[in-house]
Amino acid sequence: MLKKLSFKLILAYVSLIICLVLIVFMLLGALLRDTHIGMIRDMMSSNAQLIELALKNKENKISDSRLKKEINTLSEIMNLRITLIKTDGVVIADSDVKDIKHLDNHLYRQEITAALNEKTGSSVRYSNTLKIDMLYYAQKSGDYLIRLAKPLFEVETSLSRLKSLILNVSIIVIITSIIIITLISIKFTRPINETLEFAGEFSRGRYEKRILNYSDDEIGILQNALNKMADTIVGTINEHIFEQEKLKITIESISDGIALVDNNKNILISNNAFTELLSINTSMDKKLYFEIIRNRKLNSNIEISLKNAQRSSFEIDTTNERILDVVLNPIQSKKSLQGILIVLHDISERKKIEQIKSDLVSNVSHELKTPIAIVKGYLETISENLDNKEMSKDFIGRAIENIDRQNAIIEDIIKLSMIESSTDFQSERIDIKNIVENCIEILTPKINQKGLTVKASFKRGQTFTTNGNQFLAEEIFFNLIDNALNYNTPGGRVTVSGEETDNGIIFKVKDSGIGIPEESIGRIFERFYRVNKGRSRSTGGTGLGLSIVKHAAMVLQWSISVKSGKSGTSFTIITGK
Ligand SMILES: Nc1ncnc2c1ncn2[C@@H]1O[C@H](COP(=O)(O)OP(=O)(O)O)[C@@H](O)[C@H]1O
Ligand SMILES: [Mg+2]
Repeated sequence: MLKKLSFKLILAYVSLIICLVLIVFMLLGALLRDTHIGMIRDMMSSNAQLIELALKNKENKISDSRLKKEINTLSEIMNLRITLIKTDGVVIADSDVKDIKHLDNHLYRQEITAALNEKTGSSVRYSNTLKIDMLYYAQKSGDYLIRLAKPLFEVETSLSRLKSLILNVSIIVIITSIIIITLISIKFTRPINETLEFAGEFSRGRYEKRILNYSDDEIGILQNALNKMADTIVGTINEHIFEQEKLKITIESISDGIALVDNNKNILISNNAFTELLSINTSMDKKLYFEIIRNRKLNSNIEISLKNAQRSSFEIDTTNERILDVVLNPIQSKKSLQGILIVLHDISERKKIEQIKSDLVSNVSHELKTPIAIVKGYLETISENLDNKEMSKDFIGRAIENIDRQNAIIEDIIKLSMIESSTDFQSERIDIKNIVENCIEILTPKINQKGLTVKASFKRGQTFTTNGNQFLAEEIFFNLIDNALNYNTPGGRVTVSGEETDNGIIFKVKDSGIGIPEESIGRIFERFYRVNKGRSRSTGGTGLGLSIVKHAAMVLQWSISVKSGKSGTSFTIITGK
């Protein structure tokens, strides 16, 4: 492009110079020709006067042949064609023509007419014989006219000399001007070149580039303005990047999954929560949403939202067993749809809690209703068989057992809800070794009845006092030891151990009992969950013991874990420091 610009400059200048040369050539040519002709004419005028003098009074006395000879001599000396013409136009003698009889009447020749009127006359005419312009000069002398003629060879020679001179000068001028113009155009185009280079680099994203050597002319001002413009653009870009960063950080800090799909179905923005919730592990950069999202319900709803530009909300199940609440929000600008904002909210926990709650309600009502129905049954049978005292006694005993069971359930429910809802359990120094020993003492009748061996193994010299709450700690250890007894085998063993570590005191309640099936391990802390309902009931269990343990540990901020196999179960509790 720049080459074109300098080429255009050179072309314009060269054309201008050629025009100037042509004009000069034409003007000079005309001037030279006129001057030359004028000079010849002056020379002819003097020669005509000389001829007039030479021929004075001779024309009547000398013969025609003598006159012709005189004229020829003069013509040779003067290097002119001399013609003598009478005032009526008849040629008397001609230095170049032998037989004058064949010559036309010259009366109407331009120079003759002029000479007859004004004494002298001249004209320039093209000679067909000589193929050149001729200058004719006529002068009246008495009753005849002297006419001189001269071919304009010299003029043409001078002109052609002038032509070649001008041509040579023109070539030199053109070559010099091409060199000068090229140098000038290089000087002018260099800053333009720099500016173009800068613009190219800038458009390719090299925003730090600036034009360094700017001159103080208009191009310099333009370069300066471009540099300022670049600064402004870079500033705006930086602001934009900063805004984008802020937006990104904001979006990333939201725990809900967020993504923006434009109306060309491309995913523009998304946060980590979005990819995690939908288990997406490929890059989402400028990809179509249905290439990335593998959830049919979600995809078909996005499709509908993009068509109808309507807000919608619904729930979806994901492949990683989560339940998500989805909101599709159309984004409108100037009444046209720009895209859809997808918001995913993980409601798996809430759903689980809702499920547990509804299970709890049905469990509680079931657990409470069953003993009442049984008691009612016994009482009805007794009232129908009042005479049968033995049976009545037996049934009354069983009714009391069921009432005790119901009582135990109610007590456990109250205890659990108290632990769950109360926040003001006093923190106090408690001695766990002491608590464990008390529990074992209370449970001794059961231990003996089942023929089990229970061992408390606390490392000597270590203290097992920690921060906690007496009531909650008693609940934890009582329930764990009670379970270790209840779900044991005849002649089995139970060991309760304690060990001080850097992280706190580790307690273990280990039994050699029936163990817990693997699929049930995750559920034993749920309310009313029992692996074997019959066995639990026969031990007087309510199905709430481990729920109480879990909540008590949560309040105390202790950790609890369980390991179980065929050879028994082991609960581990780690207290705080
Ligand atoms: N030490 C253990 N060995 C085997 N199973 C156990 C043990 N502890 C608890 N379980 C199982 O966990 C269930 C829930 O325990 P828990 O909440 O104390 O209720 P329960 O009143 O039935 O004892 C029990 O029914 C039992 O199936
Ligand atoms: Mg129990």
